Amino acid sequence: MKTIGVLTSGGDSPGMNAAIRAVVRTGIYKGLKVIGIRQGYHGMINGLMEEMSLSSVADIIHRGGTMLQTARSEEFLTEEGRQKASYTLKIFGIDGVVVIGGDGSFQGAKKLSDLGIPTVGIPGTIDNDLRYTDYTIGFDTAVNTVVDAIGKIRDTSTSHGRANVIEVMGRHCGDIALYAGLAGGAESIIVPEENFDIDAVCKKLINGRNRGKLHSIILLAEGVGGGIDISKEIESKTGMETRVTILGHIQRGGTPSAFDRVLASKMGARAVDLLMEGKACRAVGVKGNEIVDVDFDDVFNTENKFDKASYDLANILSI
Ligand code: ADP
Ligand code: F6P
Repeated sequence: MKTIGVLTSGGDSPGMNAAIRAVVRTGIYKGLKVIGIRQGYHGMINGLMEEMSLSSVADIIHRGGTMLQTARSEEFLTEEGRQKASYTLKIFGIDGVVVIGGDGSFQGAKKLSDLGIPTVGIPGTIDNDLRYTDYTIGFDTAVNTVVDAIGKIRDTSTSHGRANVIEVMGRHCGDIALYAGLAGGAESIIVPEENFDIDAVCKKLINGRNRGKLHSIILLAEGVGGGIDISKEIESKTGMETRVTILGHIQRGGTPSAFDRVLASKMGARAVDLLMEGKACRAVGVKGNEIVDVDFDDVFNTENKFDKASYDLANILSI
């Protein structure tokens, strides 16, 4: 292994830059040449590549987004596209690749390793939807962004005595809603992993109002959908004026939390070590406080890790 490539793919997440920095600096420290591949698999197919130096990753550890940019590539979904990518990697002399991205990017990474290109994945997505790892890079920052937003919405909600439905990202995973809801003291958390009963949600809101609560926050994961309909139903069943806020892409930006920067730094270093050890098909993760690595097959075959205990706790604490 003399030359490695690094790319970011799919939805960006805060902490991706810290991961790129760790890959580049660990690689150079260990005597490798490191090539930055711009715009994910699109750049891999089209040769958007440049050699990285120690200084090309200076001053990025604290920045959100990704200095290598990211993309979604339709072409890479095809066998032909992936063959082109493999050819381009050969032309640039790249012996192994680090893919920083989410579930989709990992599917692509697995297929790249099936073509004989040693590939290691680093989980970079705010969604926390990769089950083999406790946390993905960017999740902690996104949760903190949502908690900050809950505080602001709570102020105006209290002033007006309203209920607020707040829709958060996470695709098919309810983790952002769950953790931000628990941290923000939401009255109800609605996630795709658990059935919800709108009457039970409304009953809780009415009980709270009767006890003198001046506001109510309902955190809704985007995978459930229907925020506007849910808010109308709450309004008609409780008589409480209700507003909806879709937080959207503010959850994907901003300076990464210390937790995400540390996680990204450790994972980036492990990814380089794995390639140097000749591991050709691995994903880096964290379990407990330990950095771990698993075969790509185990990334997709792991059981759902939804944290039911925390979901139940949030329900108890918001009684
Ligand atoms: P994320 O990595 O954030 O989940 P996407 O699901 O959009 O983002 O995936 C990012 C890119 O990964 C896609 O645009 C595509 O190029 C590649 N990809 C996704 N799924 C596959 C797949 N099944 N096979 C090959 N490549 C894939
Ligand atoms: O996967 C990350 C994510 O932010 C999801 O939470 C969200 O559903 C999706 O990406 C939005 O993607 P786009 O970049 O296309 O708006």
